[in-house]
Amino acid sequence: RPPWYDSKGNLKNPLVIGVCGGSASGKTTVCDKIIANLNVRWVVLLSMDSFYKNLSKDIDPSKYNFDHPDSFDYDLMVKTISDLRAGKKVNIPKYCFKTHSRLVHQDTVYGADVIILEGILTLYSKELRDLMDIKIFIDTDDDVRLARRLKRDIAERGRTLESVLHQYNTFVKPSFDDYIIPLKKYADIIVPRGSDNIVAINLLTNHIRLKLKERGFDPEKTSELGLEGLELP
Ligand code: CTP
Repeated sequence: RPPWYDSKGNLKNPLVIGVCGGSASGKTTVCDKIIANLNVRWVVLLSMDSFYKNLSKDIDPSKYNFDHPDSFDYDLMVKTISDLRAGKKVNIPKYCFKTHSRLVHQDTVYGADVIILEGILTLYSKELRDLMDIKIFIDTDDDVRLARRLKRDIAERGRTLESVLHQYNTFVKPSFDDYIIPLKKYADIIVPRGSDNIVAINLLTNHIRLKLKERGFDPEKTSELGLEGLELP
């Protein structure tokens, strides 16, 4: 039996965590640190980037607002999280920042104890928020985020200095002010300084561990298990 079922064959209730925050605020690093601290085997970390809509060939990417809520496929995000919560197998699209479109290859993910969704607008949709047990907002200074984004987009996403600055001033910053900052009000916890905030990361890890135990998951035990020999749904 997969470990997300209890001994009576009932599906346990996985913990869904939403991590929101501006571009390059350190969302992924905070999630990685929580996951490393937790040491639970069945953790699924999803990025909202996987749910970007494909950019139509006749749209110039430099004129498109990738920071607007309409750029994301919320229906697919809600379905994916709901299916994972229900112990079903799901396919996660992979996104390419160079071509602005989904790759043909998808990742297959099975059930989990903990499901984390990170992204710039994870707290935007009420339907999605309603699926979350813990909502976190990462609050990192704008100048730190811009400096990180410049380095990252040039090194990893095939951009030029001019294009990153143009996109930042035209779309990223205005959308951050209009759509992302207001999402703070939905957060259960706001983490200043992002991944440097070890105290917040430890507090969150302990809280998650407690919640998992309350739901019948045993964080220590599940870290020992492997997928081998399990009949997956
Ligand atoms: N984006 C882009 N081109 C695309 C799609 C998205 O430039 N084709 C940009 C958007 O402008 C958006 C950003 O990607 O601001 C979202 O990714 P971001 O949150 O910066 O990446 P993460 O690695 O998830 O963030 P963090 O550094 O906080 O972990």
